[in-house]
Amino acid sequence: MAIPKALLLAIVGCICLCSSAVLSARELGDTAMVERHEQWMAKFNRVYKDGTEKAQRFEVFKANVAFIESFNAENRKFWLGVNQFTDLTNDEFRATKTNKGLKMSGGRAPTGFKYSNVSIDALPTAVDWRTKGVVTPIKDQGQCVATEGIVKLSTGKLISLSEQELVDCDVHGVDQGCEGGEMDDAFKFIIKNGGLTTEANYPYTAQDGQCKTSIASNSVATIKGYEDVPANDESSLMKAVANQPVSVAVDGGDVIFQHYSGGVMTGSCGTDLDHGIAAIGYGMTSDGTKYWLLKNSWGTTWGESGYLRMEKDISDKSGMCGLAMQPSYPTE
Ligand SMILES: *[C@@H]1O[C@H](CO)[C@@H](O)[C@H](O)[C@H]1NC(C)=O
Repeated sequence: MAIPKALLLAIVGCICLCSSAVLSARELGDTAMVERHEQWMAKFNRVYKDGTEKAQRFEVFKANVAFIESFNAENRKFWLGVNQFTDLTNDEFRATKTNKGLKMSGGRAPTGFKYSNVSIDALPTAVDWRTKGVVTPIKDQGQCVATEGIVKLSTGKLISLSEQELVDCDVHGVDQGCEGGEMDDAFKFIIKNGGLTTEANYPYTAQDGQCKTSIASNSVATIKGYEDVPANDESSLMKAVANQPVSVAVDGGDVIFQHYSGGVMTGSCGTDLDHGIAAIGYGMTSDGTKYWLLKNSWGTTWGESGYLRMEKDISDKSGMCGLAMQPSYPTE
């Protein structure tokens, strides 16, 4: 008796389906993770050069997701999330997003501190310079937040300043603009150059280039000087931040920094200063945790839409991730 062709097809089909079901059951965990990695690649426009690299990056991604999930299961005051850095090991992240090679020296030339006599008791309990129109939108690059802030406060004009001009034209060879190395060097450059031009005039290119002197001479905003906030004193930092956005250096290379997603960052962090951010306010959560509000420059997919909160007034005088060690601000 001949087996009808349709039945035969059904049997063959079943064997195929059943065996693939067994296979996917065995690899179910990874299948979901492979799918997640694919979606992540699409979201962040990540393209790998070949299957080997993709397999390698997948393993890093998987390990990072596991770390994020186990961290979040501990229900701390802050949480981590998958972001554009999730296929990087922490060493790779440190190497690309911070300036480990550009150690910030401890020795800063002494400056005045014009807020020294401000009374702490007279300061507002919460400050957020974003609500005063003093902060430009989050950029996916270095930042000139403190300079943009003082320009707005003194001229009334909020101008997104050219980070690239600093990268290309700062003769210090400090190629990290406002973000890296000695932040005071960025202020020194702006003063010597007679200011900075706009982001629109001299846009970001993500690499070191020749200084376009004709554009660079077209300064729209400048500062007269800068001052350092006395080191390792969060009270002094509070006096300054209540009056204007302040540049702070932090240790931004930690895994908790790599995947920070929201909440008030607390607990252990390094003090190996390697990243520049801006303190743009402070406040207190409903559970009484005091925090600094900071603006980062890693786009809006990092942190709280590009912002970060870190615990304020901790017992370690260096501050969370060393934020109180080298704050400084431009003056008008
Ligand atoms: C702070 O007060 C002291 C004493 O009155 C004064 O000598 C000093 O100049 C003041 N500092 C600033 C920065 O205003």
